[in-house]
Amino acid sequence: MPYVTEDNLTDVAMERWKDIPDPRLRQIMQSLIKHLHGFVRDIEPTQAEWAAAIDWLTRTGKLCSPKRQEFVLASDVLGVSMLVDAINHRRPSGATPSTVEGPFHVPDAPAMANGADMAQGAPGIPCFVTGTVRGLNGDPLAGAVLDLWQTDGEGLYEDQRDVTGPWMRGLYRAQPDGSYAIRTVAPIAYTIPMDGTVGELMNRTNISHMRPAHIHFAVSAPGYHGLITHLFQKNGEYLDTDVVYAVKEPLIVNFVKKPPGKAPTGETVATPFYEVKYDFVLEKRAQALAAAE
Ligand code: BEZ
Ligand code: FE
Repeated sequence: MPYVTEDNLTDVAMERWKDIPDPRLRQIMQSLIKHLHGFVRDIEPTQAEWAAAIDWLTRTGKLCSPKRQEFVLASDVLGVSMLVDAINHRRPSGATPSTVEGPFHVPDAPAMANGADMAQGAPGIPCFVTGTVRGLNGDPLAGAVLDLWQTDGEGLYEDQRDVTGPWMRGLYRAQPDGSYAIRTVAPIAYTIPMDGTVGELMNRTNISHMRPAHIHFAVSAPGYHGLITHLFQKNGEYLDTDVVYAVKEPLIVNFVKKPPGKAPTGETVATPFYEVKYDFVLEKRAQALAAAE
């Protein structure tokens, strides 16, 4: 084994990690060493800069708790979360594209009747979302589950409100013809949490830390690939600069402003409201996988 020099150090480390028995771990570690050494050779950090980087990572780890995941946020703002999502959800054209789940999903949302109001008095402009859940061949997916979560009309999620019960989330089921109807309030654009190490980093850049207005959906049906995605408000602010890179063209929808009157659910609304129409399309799982469920 040669003693190390600046020139041969990468090769020496690659050689050391080349025989580890688990082939996947070997592949990952060899690639990590190659790219990490390449990064260090590229930026040539001073000792102080490297110590600052380690300190930032340490403080990022210390911020993580069951309620907060600063490393995921770091992965989000670097575009890595969306890249991992894209690699793992390569869907055929026609299927609704996925986006990142984000940190604000709360499991066990309350079950809602078709057309019920999941905003339950939260501030904001009433908003009715209707459409269908179908397979790629057009089959309606009766009973498909739509799990929704979003900010209220002041840009706050349940986690950010001092509430004990559910806030701005609900579980709906598609009807026998695949249709669904949701009453909520329109979400607004909001900032990612900026009081941690990611915020510290973003504040040293001129990059927007805003997310455009959106509603999160997790849509599932037996025998089909689950879908985690957002619907974004067309013409809303920050669509082109979403800090977590989640905007995909087919997910931008019209929020049509309507005068007071009859809503899509048949009820009468005394104030102006939004109407949103969206049809979700899920991809069938391979037969063997579906049978194993
Ligand atoms: C969100 O949409 O809720 C979100 C996603 C990634 C980072 C922060 C927030
Ligand atoms: Fe969100």
